[in-house]
Formats: sequence, structure tokens, C-alpha cells
Amino acid sequence: MDAVQPLPALAQDRLGRPLHDLRLSVIDACNFRCGYCMPADRIPDDHGLDAAGRLSFDQIETLVRGFAAVGVRKLRLTGGEPLLRKRLPELVARLARVPGIDDLALTTNASLLAAQARALREAGLRRITVSLDALDPAVFGAMSGGRGEVGTVLRGIAAAEEAGFDALKINCVVQRGVNEDQVLPLLQHFRGSGHVVRFIEYMDVGTCNGWAPAQVVPSAELRARIDAHWPLRPLQSQYTGEVAERHAFVDGGGEVGFVSSVSAPFCGDCHRARVSADGRLYTCLFAAHGHDLKPALAHGGEALAAEVATLWSRRSDRYSEIRGNPRAPRKHIEMYLIGG
Ligand code: GTP
Ligand code: 5AD
Ligand code: SF4
Ligand code: SF4
Repeated sequence: MDAVQPLPALAQDRLGRPLHDLRLSVIDACNFRCGYCMPADRIPDDHGLDAAGRLSFDQIETLVRGFAAVGVRKLRLTGGEPLLRKRLPELVARLARVPGIDDLALTTNASLLAAQARALREAGLRRITVSLDALDPAVFGAMSGGRGEVGTVLRGIAAAEEAGFDALKINCVVQRGVNEDQVLPLLQHFRGSGHVVRFIEYMDVGTCNGWAPAQVVPSAELRARIDAHWPLRPLQSQYTGEVAERHAFVDGGGEVGFVSSVSAPFCGDCHRARVSADGRLYTCLFAAHGHDLKPALAHGGEALAAEVATLWSRRSDRYSEIRGNPRAPRKHIEMYLIGG
């Protein structure tokens, strides 16, 4: 495939934010039904685009080359559940070779990871983030909408370790009264393993989770609870716009992260674009509308790059900062279509 020439001026939005990360959904289906994302009573079992509605591997590769030309350096594959996409390692191998992409990561529920970890590693994947909201089997089962089994996820994590993924990130979305009691057990389990647990404030994404502010456990509260058990000290962020605030265990047990999009929004440095499995660009996790990139994509990577640069230059999203404002948009794209 032809190389796409970098654009002379890399894209910046109206608030001066560059485009640096692409979160690309490879499939809109999931085998779980987490209540905060895809509640079972709202999303039918057979939900999902048919194969013809999804970008093909050729289209995805052209798209990623185009985004790289606009300045994207970090690519995260998401879903739904990305491991449901057939022949994913083949796609990873193609994307790992795209010039400019120097960080290739994947966010997964790990239910299918045991069988795929080695092939993904061999294909060039270097970072995996696993969603894991509880260690208790009953709490985990309920939070996955009755679809998931915590033992399978832990086996997926073990297979990833064996395949060479030595520092996974483990994401836990904390909901008041639902899995707060899982926070210390999760840390007990993963402290000292090299993996980093991150606690995520429950967000009002999508339109079907019935979010209410009272269900959010603010990170400051969790941090105090953890600090009382295992003293923490704050760490510097590793790069501008890092989503998680990092803390180290003073006793050397590793680190823990907090993603505080509700109590401490981080829109000021937000440099992330999202593309759905059917090729629409969303410039915010809370955007109501996406721009169909397929017409530009049909003209190749350079046309795509020019289109993305134009769309990005018009961007002024900062939803998490204006969430409390009555004029803030209430209609949001569903999380499972853009992978968080
Ligand atoms: P790395 O920093 O690359 O490890 O990953 P990440 O933390 O950006 O990605 P991950 O998929 O693990 O996301 C962690 C949590 O942060 C998820 O709940 C995401 O939905 C949320 N998140 C990621 N980016 C944004 C963002 O731009 N805005 C908001 N509000 N939440 C985000
Ligand atoms: N609030 C916060 N995080 C969420 N995720 C999915 N839905 C929500 C929500 N409503 C998380 C998933 C996954 C990450 C990409 O987003 O658990 O780890
Ligand atoms: Fe599936 Fe992830 Fe959404 Fe849960 S949060 S339903 S695992 S896409
Ligand atoms: Fe970026 Fe939108 Fe999240 Fe703010 S709310 S950090 S603009 S994705």
C-alpha cells in the first residue's frame, strides 16, 4: 500500500489541541452486557452490524495510514469486544507496520484472550488493557449482565502474561453500592504483579445506562480508602493528556491509577479521536453525531487525512467540563459503538 505523505501542518482543534490518539472500534458487538454500557434489557442478544457494514481490513489499514499522516502516534483497538472480530491478529500485524504508529494497544474484556494472546503478541501487539470490575464471581457475573465468568478472565490474563504482556492495565468501573467492596480485593490480587489496576468513575456515556451522579464514587474517596490500607504517593504523569492519575504504593507494591472524568475532567488536553466499526469519526466520547469517513476513504489515505484534518480543526468538544450545564447535550453516542 502507498505511503501517505504527512500533511505540512498537523491538525489542531479550535482549542489548540493536537490529534494524537486514535481509538478504533473493530466491532460493535459484545458477548457481555455490562449494565453501564450495554444493558441486557436494552440491547438485543443479536445486536451488531453485519460484516458488510464494518470497515474491511483494507479500509482500516488505509484509514490508520491517513490518521498517522495527520499526527496520530497511538492507536488503541476497541469494540464492543474486539476479540470477537474474526482474524484480529492478521489486522494487528498490518497495523503494527504502519509508519508513525509507535504505540499499538487493545482494550478487551479478556473472555476470549486465553486463545488469542500469543497470536496477538506475535502479530506485534504490545499493550493490553483488561476490563475487570470484580473478583467475586457473583458480583462479576451480575456486572457482566450474567454473561461473564471471572475465572475465564483471570485465565485470559494468565495467558497474556505467558505470551509476554508483562504490564497489563486492569480497568475497574466503580459503582456506588455495586462493586465498591471489590476495590481492595482487586488491589490485593494484583499488587506486586507488575499489572496496574485503574479505578474509573462511572460515566454518563450513551443513553441507556440510567446514570445518576449518586452512583459515582469519586476518585478522591477511593484514594483515601486505599491510602488508609496501603499508603500511596502521587506520581508525575508520563505525558500530557494522560487519562489516569497515577499513584505508587509506598511499600513498593507497584502503582494504581484513577480515571476521574466526572470529578476532575481532563478535556483541556484531550487529543483522542474515535472511529466506529462502520467508519464514523467521533471527536468526543459524548458526541451525539459521527462524521462518515467512508466517502473520503474511498479516495485513499491522503483524501482521508485531509478530511480528518478539516473535521479536527472544527472541534471544540469538552463535554466533561460542561456536564452540569443544563445546555450540555443529552444525546450521546453509545459507548459500545466507540469503545470508551
Ligand atoms: P492508556 O493511557 O493508553 O493506557 O489508555 P487509556 O486509559 O486512555 O484507555 P482505556 O481504554 O483503558 O480507558 C480508560 C477509561 O478512560 C475508560 O473508561 C475510557 O472510557 C476513559 N476514557 C479514555 N479516554 C477518555 C476521554 O477522552 N474522555 C473521557 N471522558 N473518558 C475517557
Ligand atoms: N463509565 C466508565 N467507564 C466505562 N466503560 C464502559 N462503560 C463505562 C462507563 N459508563 C469502560 C470499560 C472499559 C473502558 C474502555 O471503558 O469498562 O474498561
Ligand atoms: Fe462489552 Fe466492554 Fe461494554 Fe462490558 S464495557 S458490555 S465488556 S463493550
Ligand atoms: Fe475528550 Fe470529550 Fe472526554 Fe472531554 S469528554 S476528555 S473532550 S472525549
